[in-house]
Amino acid sequence: LVASPEIYNYLEEEISNLVGTEACVIFPTVTLISIGVLPAFVGKTGVLILDKSGHETMYEGAKIARDNGATLESFEKDDFSSLEEILKKHESNNRKVIMVDGVYSMTGDYANLPKLVKLAKKYKALIYIDDAHGFGVIGENPTNEFPLGKKGNGIVKYFGMEYDNIIYVGGCSKAYSSLAAFVACSKEMKTFIEAFATPYDLSGPCPIASLSTLLQGLNINKESGDNRRKKLFDLTSRAINGLRGLGYDVLNKTGFPIISVLIGDTEKLIKTANMLFDEGILVTVAPYPMVRKGEDVHRITITSANTEDEVDKLINAFSKVRVNKIDPLHQS
Ligand SMILES: Cc1ncc(COP(=O)(O)O)c(C=O)c1O
Repeated sequence: LVASPEIYNYLEEEISNLVGTEACVIFPTVTLISIGVLPAFVGKTGVLILDKSGHETMYEGAKIARDNGATLESFEKDDFSSLEEILKKHESNNRKVIMVDGVYSMTGDYANLPKLVKLAKKYKALIYIDDAHGFGVIGENPTNEFPLGKKGNGIVKYFGMEYDNIIYVGGCSKAYSSLAAFVACSKEMKTFIEAFATPYDLSGPCPIASLSTLLQGLNINKESGDNRRKKLFDLTSRAINGLRGLGYDVLNKTGFPIISVLIGDTEKLIKTANMLFDEGILVTVAPYPMVRKGEDVHRITITSANTEDEVDKLINAFSKVRVNKIDPLHQS
């Protein structure tokens, strides 16, 4: 006997309503979606076109597809002329999928969806968006008052676009702290994914406990999500301005709460991480090969549960690193 617990179907409906698609399929993780859905979409003859700055997990999925016979191409983020050349080269292939991040995990940049969608439509390609970070944080109708938008329903809604040629993948392990992820799609596509994305059948489903935390998170989102996101944006701006005020190179153009602070080499990265830790601040280090050589960063993620005092403590800790002999801004 095989059956889905009620909460599974309920959450699939809630998420579809939130992001504005006909249906969605819940998997345990975004990684499983990418290694299952991407090979299924392109089969043996299709073409996957990977944004080189996109998350590694899409590359993992793409490698499986390539093993099955599909073609794998890649382009630099925002290099639309290279992307168009690739699309042109494969114009006659009717199974083309462009893979991008919605919100980029190291910089907080947003995919340029208006341009991508225009190109993809011209060449009849699908866009697969890994919005592991965007879901729950950015959403529809951004304004000066609510710069991250409303509802946290993801990058497509943030740009006010439709899902015509988009497969939207959201993750719940970031904003919702839950082991769950979903592909938002049409009902027809849902049936296809359930039948052909093999990890869906072969691997275990999301544990009910994780689905329950997601359910609770969605309730909190309904009650207070927009105000939390407003606070989140303000705290992030405070942190970015404070760190820039100290002279740090902060890689953030959007105000999204991923703040990468450029340190440079790995030795300095480790030393400064330890100094910050001694000041009561735990940062995520991102050394080479997670980033390009010489571009090591401390990656800070602010949450809506943080306070202004905590952000000031963060800035103060970075100011102590700044005046130390291993000041990352001075070449040794
Ligand atoms: C952009 C992006 N995609 C996918 C993942 C993997 O997500 P999951 O843990 O749901 O497999 C991450 C995790 O860090 C990520 O940052």
